[in-house]
Amino acid sequence: MKWLCSVGIAVSLALQPALADDLFGPHPMTTQARDAFVTSLLKKMTVDEKIGQLRLISVGPDNPKEKIREMIKEGHVGAIFNTVTRPDIRKMQDQVMQLSRLKIPLFFAYDVVHGQRTVFPISLGLASTFDLDAVRTVGRISAWEAADDGLNMTWAPMVDVSRDPRWGRVSEGFGEDTYLTSIMGSTMVESMQGKSPADRYSVMTSVKHFAAYGAVEGGKEYNTVDMSPQRLFNDYLPPYKAGLDAGSGGVMIALNSLNGTPATSDSWLLKDVLRKEWGFKGITISDHGAIKELINHGVASDPQDAVRIALKAGIDMSMGDEYYSKYLPGLIKSGAVTMAELDDATRHVLNVKYDMGLFNDPYVHLGPKGSDPVDTNAESRLHRKEAREVARESLVLLKNRLHTLPLKKQGTIAVIGPLADSQRDMMGSWSAAGVASQSVSVLQGIKNAAGNSAHIVYARGANISNHQGIIDFLNSYEKAVQQDPRSPQAMIDEAVNTAKSADVVVAVVGESQGMAHEASSRTNITIPQSQRDLIAALKATGKPLVLVLMNGRPLALVKEQQQADAMLETWFAGTEGGNAIADVLFGDYNPSGKLPMSFPRSVGQIPVYYSHLNTGRPYNPEKPDKYTSHYFDEANGPLFPFGYGLSYTTFQVSDVKMSSPVMKRDGTVTASVTVTNTGDREGATVVQLYLQDVTASMSRPVKMLRGFKKVTLKPHETQTVSFPVDINALKFWNARMQYVAEPGKFNVFIGLDSERVKQGSFDLL
Ligand code: BGC
Repeated sequence: MKWLCSVGIAVSLALQPALADDLFGPHPMTTQARDAFVTSLLKKMTVDEKIGQLRLISVGPDNPKEKIREMIKEGHVGAIFNTVTRPDIRKMQDQVMQLSRLKIPLFFAYDVVHGQRTVFPISLGLASTFDLDAVRTVGRISAWEAADDGLNMTWAPMVDVSRDPRWGRVSEGFGEDTYLTSIMGSTMVESMQGKSPADRYSVMTSVKHFAAYGAVEGGKEYNTVDMSPQRLFNDYLPPYKAGLDAGSGGVMIALNSLNGTPATSDSWLLKDVLRKEWGFKGITISDHGAIKELINHGVASDPQDAVRIALKAGIDMSMGDEYYSKYLPGLIKSGAVTMAELDDATRHVLNVKYDMGLFNDPYVHLGPKGSDPVDTNAESRLHRKEAREVARESLVLLKNRLHTLPLKKQGTIAVIGPLADSQRDMMGSWSAAGVASQSVSVLQGIKNAAGNSAHIVYARGANISNHQGIIDFLNSYEKAVQQDPRSPQAMIDEAVNTAKSADVVVAVVGESQGMAHEASSRTNITIPQSQRDLIAALKATGKPLVLVLMNGRPLALVKEQQQADAMLETWFAGTEGGNAIADVLFGDYNPSGKLPMSFPRSVGQIPVYYSHLNTGRPYNPEKPDKYTSHYFDEANGPLFPFGYGLSYTTFQVSDVKMSSPVMKRDGTVTASVTVTNTGDREGATVVQLYLQDVTASMSRPVKMLRGFKKVTLKPHETQTVSFPVDINALKFWNARMQYVAEPGKFNVFIGLDSERVKQGSFDLL
């Protein structure tokens, strides 16, 4: 009972010393040792105890703490989610150690997606940094804080490629691009898991939502996904694979169906692809309630059927519903589910518990009793400096007419808008254990930066929306949106008067955090009308107008782009958002963020993504022709393309230099450009490499991101940026589902966004 001594727990806990003695550590962290350990443990377990391990529950009205304690005692719970403080977690783990027969530790999980206590920008904002060091910072600190709260696992990263901004969950991922999502997701896995998820300050990740949840039809939440195997394997699956290759111990299975089969019942996906082809050894976890939902999907006739199908398909652990616990005993008895199948699932759960170090020390992330923080929300537990640094890197300057920005710290600045003074919205969705009152609003950030040098005046100007149905929806689970009872006109009048008294207007507009979340699909991706009316009224004052946008998805901003003198996309920037935004507005930080999703002009254009196929009749805006692929009632292409973002300085990219006109299959070619800062202040930008397989056995995208580098240059400084390309960057799944790189011509494009690029080429021999 070494772990007992090491954590100083009273030894009266040892109710079953004979059973427990040989089970608990220290254990060598090798696969062989783990397998032997788990095999021996499985032999000691009853059917009920095995089934208990597959159950993941959260404390809530259906499962109050007392009820959970009973279940724990009986060995009927494998893991807990949504319990996030050390004292609460400790009590539950104590329960296992004191009262359960086998003392198999629980693991504790939570949605630590963009921070735990310190909230960083939403993932779409993090993607805008195009900076893997920023991802590492977020991953490491989030894991550190999560582990410091006693957690062992996070339901992150979310790596669903998404090309439809109607879907609210685009906010949780890294955008539309397969390469960017893969590299950001795998970096997140590496930084959260650290050397080992068993380390004191690391957590295990679970890549989600496998698979292709980001492609729900019409961007409608939980909807059907239907796509060709080529698109699935070329565009949608690589980020999950990258996360698993980086060592993620878990994978969460999507709620949607894929080509008619719900992911939760898809043995091809969960066994053939995940286990056999990819060699995944970790744990599969259903999404919340997904097993039950097999009945609604129409693939299971009743609860027993749903459980049988899910377990046989390869769902190890069931989140949120009671179906496994209720129906597996009967299914085992009848032989409909075999003991070998139950053992398989249980083994996966025990494996990850072993990997989390819980059999060495069930209190690995709790430390000794008495060490719990006195104040869970203490300011000292936050990482504000890092949060501010990452947040300012995530901001994307979309427009800056006549150097409206940066603002001077002088005169009177009017800060207006329903989001200007909002701490809650700054945190974004899935803000974990973050506390809204600890976040910095834009108004506060501007005040902090301006100090006594400028006079700041404020008016709310509008409510988020005047549509009662929308407000009721946003407030349906928590009172997330506060409505000002004044009439819209009264609020606008006040805002206009405030604007008139100022030298410049900063309007903070967009979406409340609940508009870009799970279950928040929109048919209309404009700024709500109440705020558009406000913007029009502010524009009419003739004052310089800066729009600070807060939103969790690309918005259609055609009108606003005409009205605004400057526009800064800030997503939901997290705990230090207001300070970071003020850093950029006043030029204390020169913006360098780039869009990880194309911004469409209207909903009718969706999907708009840069990596599309050429079609047989590509549209050429310089030589428009009726019978080409386009819409005739609107300008074509995105309003702002993927990879786009301005700086307070300007950059010039040279022509592309290729190290060779040909590449051997086992060789590389290097594409280089020089980048020069042609402005008069230091700045950073993201140099982007795109490839195109010009002629292949099937049609390939017009451009595919295959590399990027963030460079910081002093005024007039020049730097050479080189991208080596090897055969792996050229491979794709062809029409026969072979993974190949085909000989022939490849175009190489390098630029500072996906549209304005310089071109080179080479031939693959
Ligand atoms: C979401 C998951 C999340 C889970 C637990 C589900 O509704 O789809 O992404 O991890 O809830 O909070």
